[in-house]
Amino acid sequence: MNVGVIGAGYVGLTISAVFAKWGHDVYCVEKEDEKVEDLKAGRIPIYEPGLEEWIKESLEKGKLVFTTDLAEAVKACHLLFIAVGTPEGPNGEPNLDFIEQIINELVPLITQPKIIVTKSTVPIGTNEWIKNKLIHAGVRSQFITVVSNPEFLREGTAIHDMCQPDKIIIGTDQVEAVEQLKELYQEINAPYLITSLAGAEMIKYTANSFLAMKISFINEIARICDAYQVDVTEVAKGIGMDPRIGSSFLQAGLGYGGSCFPKDVKALEYAAKQKEITPHLLQATQLINEEQLSLYCQKLRKSLTNFPDVSIAVWGATFKPNTDDIRNSQAVKLINLLTRKGCRVHVYDPVASISIQEVTVHSSIYESIKGRDGLVIATEWEMFHTVDWTLISKWMKGKVVLDCRNVIDPLLLKEHGFEYVGVGRP
Ligand code: UGA
Repeated sequence: MNVGVIGAGYVGLTISAVFAKWGHDVYCVEKEDEKVEDLKAGRIPIYEPGLEEWIKESLEKGKLVFTTDLAEAVKACHLLFIAVGTPEGPNGEPNLDFIEQIINELVPLITQPKIIVTKSTVPIGTNEWIKNKLIHAGVRSQFITVVSNPEFLREGTAIHDMCQPDKIIIGTDQVEAVEQLKELYQEINAPYLITSLAGAEMIKYTANSFLAMKISFINEIARICDAYQVDVTEVAKGIGMDPRIGSSFLQAGLGYGGSCFPKDVKALEYAAKQKEITPHLLQATQLINEEQLSLYCQKLRKSLTNFPDVSIAVWGATFKPNTDDIRNSQAVKLINLLTRKGCRVHVYDPVASISIQEVTVHSSIYESIKGRDGLVIATEWEMFHTVDWTLISKWMKGKVVLDCRNVIDPLLLKEHGFEYVGVGRP
């Protein structure tokens, strides 16, 4: 099938790469010339395991074309995916400017029947609005089918999540659109749920908000565990064995970040308030997440007597491991908080390139800890499991390790003479 993908961000690039790998002919449209030139040369602007190889392979086979020419993609493809960003607006409402711009550009180009599939996370009612906007602008209604097909891929495991999803949600009342998408996704073995347009939009927000709520819930439990000297990892394991609860997203830590959870919980809160509903759980979810930063700052203050006149190493800056994304990263927020308080902060991250005023960034993990009073682990990169604690103990000045992601075995650190402070871990 010929497939058009509008937007070469995280979702757009991943779905383009996967569709092309499945043998479809993909036209990925991006408005930035420079980005398109890079992509054509196989240079991928994001760090996502496996993505570059898949894109290069499809470019070589001629199955994937990057272009700035929307008209070319519209002409060639019956299926058009919209995968542009919907960033947070000033009051928590999603900003739909990019979507609106695309719709305006599509108006003169749709002269034959097209299926417009929204992958972007959009507020309830947006797909209906897209359909009406196109019709009011003069596109013949029989030429337009609008479908909401939300994406549930995670950064760091995007290809795997797209190829092996646990469900495919298709919001539409058009049977032909369902059949077309089923043909497109024939490599996938997952159940389909066909819903209304608004139902599919709501499922996406609800899923992300529920997962964020699970994280804030376990972080609240971790605070209680701390007070009662109980290990929260045992508690998470125990409750996770109940299939009604499930074991995932129960890792207590510094809180959630990234380009999705913070934005989507806020957007759902905004949507609720628009209808005069007070979304208590959504509000508590965000409050707990924000409080995690000051809480872990206080833990550090308690362990380091000279705080804030201290030199601290922070390992990890990305919002989670296996990505270079620092958008809304709790690690970066903690780094900023410690710096504002007057601490001298030294950062090491295996992938992210960061530049924060008054923060020293190291390219060597061992250099980052030399002479430091304390070490904070802010993101759970795999490599932190296998560092040489004998060396670290020799080179660090102080002996405090604040493990904000419960990465390290407390006993191992104790053996090396460290004071271990974890998340809900005695
Ligand atoms: C999230 C969702 O998981 C995807 O299903 C969704 O498609 C995506 O948003 C999106 O809307 O585009 P992502 O933001 O890539 O994916 O990251 P997650 O793996 O969900 O992690 C989000 C945050 O929660 C990270 O900061 C992570 O460190 C934190 N987290 C996750 C925890 O603190 N504890 C956990 O147990 C799990």
